[in-house]
Amino acid sequence: MKTSPKSSLTVLRTGREISVVVAGLADEITRSYAGKCPLVIGVLKGAFVFMADLVRHLNFPLEIDFIRLSSYGSGRESSGKVKVIQDIRASIKGRDVLVVEDIVDTGHSISFLMEYLQKKGPASLKLCCLMDKPLRRRVVVPIDYVGFTVPDKFLVGYGLDCAEEYRNLPDVCILGEDSQ
Ligand code: PRP
Repeated sequence: MKTSPKSSLTVLRTGREISVVVAGLADEITRSYAGKCPLVIGVLKGAFVFMADLVRHLNFPLEIDFIRLSSYGSGRESSGKVKVIQDIRASIKGRDVLVVEDIVDTGHSISFLMEYLQKKGPASLKLCCLMDKPLRRRVVVPIDYVGFTVPDKFLVGYGLDCAEEYRNLPDVCILGEDSQ
């Protein structure tokens, strides 16, 4: 289902602003992983843009994998019931693992995922998240690397969608409903 033509978009962070944040995060992560070769796991689909930008700034050897979770479906509210619908291929036992996520909202998705991965016995497990929406948090989730905090608004763009639309927008935008 496509969004109503009356939906409005307000830019929250421009692509240019995001690129500065991503470069800063990458510097911090590069310092942490000196001498290591971690597996970097992107959480599909939302993190695909952030992941692609971030890894191109990481200055150390690494491997990449992806995992896909299902929780929101086409709705705007998290069901809290999270499933793995596409698993990683690589074994993470004894490996340094960095999870890359676009946004932590209620925390249900990432809380489930970190627990799921921890059970597989990684040497270390860290989380890098571009956006943190703390006002919506339902589950406490430690985040090792955070890009920026966002307000409690419905966000689209830079990988984030509404019913699969808007993922390709270069900016992060607030999706609103026009009054008429
Ligand atoms: C979004 C986002 C996070 C999750 C955050 O994914 O990419 O993975 O929701 O929400 P939470 O903290 O409330 O769990 P979504 O389930 O919409 O799937 P998508 O990444 O395929 O868009």
